[in-house]
Amino acid sequence: MKKFLLSALIISMICTLASCTKDNSNRKSENYADSSQEKTAGLPIEKNRILIAYFSRYGNTDYPDDVDASTSASVVIDKERYGTTEYMARMIQKTVGGELFPIRTVTPYTDDFDELRDVNHNEMENNKLPELQKSNLDISNYDTIFIGYPVWATDVPQAVVSFLKKYDLSDKTVIPFCTHDGYGAGNSYNSIRVESSAKNMLEALAIEAKDIKDSSTVIENWLNSIGMLSKKTDEGETEIAIQIGNITLDGVLYNTALANEIKQYFPFTISMTKYAGREFYGGVDFYPESLEGGQKTFENGDITYCEDHHNMAIFYAQTDNPNLSVNVIPIGKVISDLSVFENLDNREEITFSLKHK
Ligand SMILES: Cc1cc2nc3c(=O)[nH]c(=O)nc-3n(C[C@H](O)[C@H](O)[C@H](O)COP(=O)(O)O)c2cc1C
Repeated sequence: MKKFLLSALIISMICTLASCTKDNSNRKSENYADSSQEKTAGLPIEKNRILIAYFSRYGNTDYPDDVDASTSASVVIDKERYGTTEYMARMIQKTVGGELFPIRTVTPYTDDFDELRDVNHNEMENNKLPELQKSNLDISNYDTIFIGYPVWATDVPQAVVSFLKKYDLSDKTVIPFCTHDGYGAGNSYNSIRVESSAKNMLEALAIEAKDIKDSSTVIENWLNSIGMLSKKTDEGETEIAIQIGNITLDGVLYNTALANEIKQYFPFTISMTKYAGREFYGGVDFYPESLEGGQKTFENGDITYCEDHHNMAIFYAQTDNPNLSVNVIPIGKVISDLSVFENLDNREEITFSLKHK
């Protein structure tokens, strides 16, 4: 029955919006297919600079205190009450960390579904942007912004558009996620891309509300597939930043005797030269003593020390001939996307620093 009502709602929305004279073209949808498949542009994502902003009906609605999921209300009950999208936001946070930010309107929405449908219809048709509650959010503290919302009329609620217009996300990586009642994400990813002007938008995830409580594996697999889990460091590793001009890459130093010895010299800058399409190397001015464990092979991303040449190297691409002429000792690795190295100049000043002093 709920699905039937929704079909009617969606069809009526589309018909009305299609005949609307205002230019709303980038927010219309021809079908309900979950068509957006934004691919990663391979830009580095910094750990610990993640914001998970979400809009849910719960928290933005004048519900009675004892509201429960048996009515048409959008509530997930798991000891506490949560909005469906809020619940998904919390599952994401559990997996990748970051901070939650609830998008809240100044004026709450009605708890009556039919009235809300009309209010939303009116907001979309007239491009109304509901005013958001004041907050201390400083968007410059974040590089990666998840944006979560319930699909409304095959698109984002206008409160999400208010959020996207309020904050400058043009230098951010944006990751949409949404919940819905069976019709998928509709045009919502496209709206987010257009309204956010994000420099980079990663593949989104849409989950049907009825499945939300059983979705932890789906969510983890998705986060893994967009590279958000590879940012996790292993026990004892030290997070480092590798600065090349205005590009910052993430890396780790291993918990080995040599890496710990070299760590004492951080931060330092090495003038590094591109070599053989596979590495950047450059001399260092310290002489570590823990030199066991050299090898003549490398993995992509390896940061190594070489005793013979008294230098450090970053390996970014395997070549036909990965065997090296001298021993190198891996002391850490780059965990950001390595493709940036392909486009660097032949000589670069590269600064290695600890992320947390
Ligand atoms: C006004 C309105 C419009 C909706 N439009 C759609 C839709 O187009 N497609 C769909 O699958 N679900 C639609 N839904 C259902 C919600 O997307 C779904 O229940 C969502 O999981 C609620 O999330 P929340 O609890 O975070 O608000 C609509 C719900 C409302 C209130």
